[in-house]
Amino acid sequence: MLIVANWKAYIEDLTRAKSLLTLSKRLLRERTLTIVLAPPAPLLGALAATHGSEVALAAQDVSATTGGAKTGENTAQTFAALGATYTIIGHSERRAVGDTNAVVAEKMSHALAHGLIPILCIGEGERDKAGEYLALIREEITTALVGLTPKERRSVIVAYEPLWAIGKGSTFAISPNDLSEMVLYIRKVLGEFLPGDSAHSATILYGGSVAVDNARALAASTGINGFLVGHASVDGEQFSQLVTALD
Ligand code: PGA
Repeated sequence: MLIVANWKAYIEDLTRAKSLLTLSKRLLRERTLTIVLAPPAPLLGALAATHGSEVALAAQDVSATTGGAKTGENTAQTFAALGATYTIIGHSERRAVGDTNAVVAEKMSHALAHGLIPILCIGEGERDKAGEYLALIREEITTALVGLTPKERRSVIVAYEPLWAIGKGSTFAISPNDLSEMVLYIRKVLGEFLPGDSAHSATILYGGSVAVDNARALAASTGINGFLVGHASVDGEQFSQLVTALD
């Protein structure tokens, strides 16, 4: 089970960042699951400078560019140099401010070129009865993977995050039944890009109002490999209950 804590911009000071890191280290003791922390970029730098390797770090995003005269950019190479292992790419909050599928594809390439494992976020804004949202999901996966080498494609983690479920109370999360169907569908689409039956073993996460009271049901027999957790990951009490429930 992989739990990625997406701190978004909820955490803005080093004291809280350090205390959540310490908590994650403690939670990992004697547990088999993996915790990945995705702090805002400056805090990732600060945490990376001081901590060991038990808790992996993820960037929340990387630039669609490499180095050079690009004021304000945070490149994949910079995050890799700091010791990040993963990066979230194509989060809906980045897509909302301009990340098209083409931009997402660029970012995927940069991340992989510098050894970061991309956590590709996909998800529909709303569901229509005719199932057109499935075509949107297919398009998001296709455009992100088509330009990658077979080896690169195999390393991609997919995070299914329907926009209608993000940032709300736990009752707004997807139902376990609907999640099972989406996981099957995503694996089917991945199967078009991955050799043999490697789509079956691809890592797929769910994100969108995951909390202590729905996590276990969402994890049980839906075929999901873990969660991308937003607001519940920045409250120490909630996060430790969540991790404990999933262990
Ligand atoms: P949430 O956010 O858990 O607050 O819904 C998840 C995400 O956007 O990654």
